[in-house]
Amino acid sequence: MAALLEMRGITKAFPGVKALDAVNLTVQAGEIHALVGENGAGKSTLMKVLSGVYPAGSYDGEIHYDGALAEFANISDSEARGVIIIHQELALVPLLSIAENLFLGNERAKAGVIDWRDTNQRTGALLKKVGLNEPPSTLVDKLGVGKQQLVEIAKALSKEVRLLILDEPTAALSESDSQALLDLMLELKDQGVTQIIISHKLNEVRRVADTVTVIRDGSTVSTMDARAEPITEDRIVRDMVGRDMAHRYPARERRAGDLLMEVKGWNVWHPLHTDRQVIHDINLAVRAGEVVGIAGLMGAGRTELAMSLFGRSYGRAITGSIEIGGKPVDVSTVSRAIAAGLAYVTEDRKSLGLILDETIQRNITLANLDAVSRGQVLNETAETRVAEDYRKALNIRTPSVFQQVVNLSGGNQQKVVLSKWLFARPEVLILDEPTRGIDVGAKFEIYGIINDLSAQGKGVVMISSEMPELLGMCDRIYVMNEGAFVGELSAEDASQERIMSLIVTE
Ligand SMILES: Nc1ncnc2c1ncn2[C@@H]1O[C@H](COP(=O)(O)OP(=O)(O)OP(=O)(O)O)[C@@H](O)[C@H]1O
Ligand SMILES: [Mg+2]
Repeated sequence: MAALLEMRGITKAFPGVKALDAVNLTVQAGEIHALVGENGAGKSTLMKVLSGVYPAGSYDGEIHYDGALAEFANISDSEARGVIIIHQELALVPLLSIAENLFLGNERAKAGVIDWRDTNQRTGALLKKVGLNEPPSTLVDKLGVGKQQLVEIAKALSKEVRLLILDEPTAALSESDSQALLDLMLELKDQGVTQIIISHKLNEVRRVADTVTVIRDGSTVSTMDARAEPITEDRIVRDMVGRDMAHRYPARERRAGDLLMEVKGWNVWHPLHTDRQVIHDINLAVRAGEVVGIAGLMGAGRTELAMSLFGRSYGRAITGSIEIGGKPVDVSTVSRAIAAGLAYVTEDRKSLGLILDETIQRNITLANLDAVSRGQVLNETAETRVAEDYRKALNIRTPSVFQQVVNLSGGNQQKVVLSKWLFARPEVLILDEPTRGIDVGAKFEIYGIINDLSAQGKGVVMISSEMPELLGMCDRIYVMNEGAFVGELSAEDASQERIMSLIVTE
């Protein structure tokens, strides 16, 4: 097999950070090549170099593509050669239709007028290829993330792709959507499309990748060929973090104390479709020191429940009561919920969790500015000290806490959101998909932080689509389906099968 792509000695620096330090990457024609590494290792940056987001001249090293030196000046340049990247954060325009998105900037036109018949026909054919059964006129914001991901791939196919780059395509997808996407990747491979996938889900990497390259701290550590030797997850992890990791979940002394939070008879109605009840009569209890999980499929209502509890940030006509520490609390606004001892780490860090153009420091102190102020005056030195503490505790990779959050890698952004809510010093912390996009080493660190909270007698509610994580961390798991709790399992009784059977039989 010939190499379709060879990146040699790629070095790329940002102010204060050497994101890439002489990275080499060779991708054979027709293979699926996985790029793995810790948060901030440089994976996305390398792919942005490859696709012309960072143009030739802004990095050192050489890219050889399809037998010639490639010096892409921008994205259209690389796209014209069949190199297409689907970024970590999806980039579709929500209020345009699928068809409009597919041909945005590449409109099918006759004599300067958009040819809708042709556009819709082509869209139909592309959607069929990716297995998406939706009319071309559907607005993108009506689609779930899984389907949006398929639209992104259809868009890539509309451009005659030769090398498709997928940056964490399944991070926000449900189990079944992920499987469908991986199947599609294998199909595209059969059709001769070379692919690079970045993922923190090592089981997926094992499933689709022919070759795995590990990057650590901006340098290539190893390249493994699955066709020559079986690639184990343990081996990948060792190369990623630079040491063996015997356990994926840190041990915790399980010792649930007194009842800490009790939610009774919680009902929530849809904010717009006023006849739709989204949450049905939820009763939820959390003891001091307890880690309680909420399992369920996407769309089960877990996020809606959490957000409605957290200052009514979701829903209307909410009824029910919450007690914390045996006293009824007022959680009718976000600031009252915080004052009552609740905190909520959103699953949607980009639009709800962070102020992207603010510094790391300000994002961390945001939910508890009083703690770093005297009267109305903010003490910036104190603020910096707090931010530095969290940078160390959570191992946030950045040259300084004065960096804008937008410049952090995805996983490190997640750690900033987490820091913010830890600093708010809640009694009960609700975590919504807390390890999405987080590397294995950092996951372990986050689990450690959860255990610390538990040891301090705080309560933790953990919503996660990764069942092994719930099983590995929780003392008790509520199973949710269609807006209601359909079962409750203790750690000893819980298993993936039992959770699934509760979901499907109810
Ligand atoms: N535009 C930028 N300005 C400054 N620093 C940046 C910029 N983009 C990336 N970095 C830094 O470069 C390093 C590599 O980031 P990159 O996004 O490539 O990591 P990654 O491997 O994709 O991580 P993740 O798994 O978290 O997505 C990080 O330290 C990041 O903070
Ligand atoms: Mg990345």
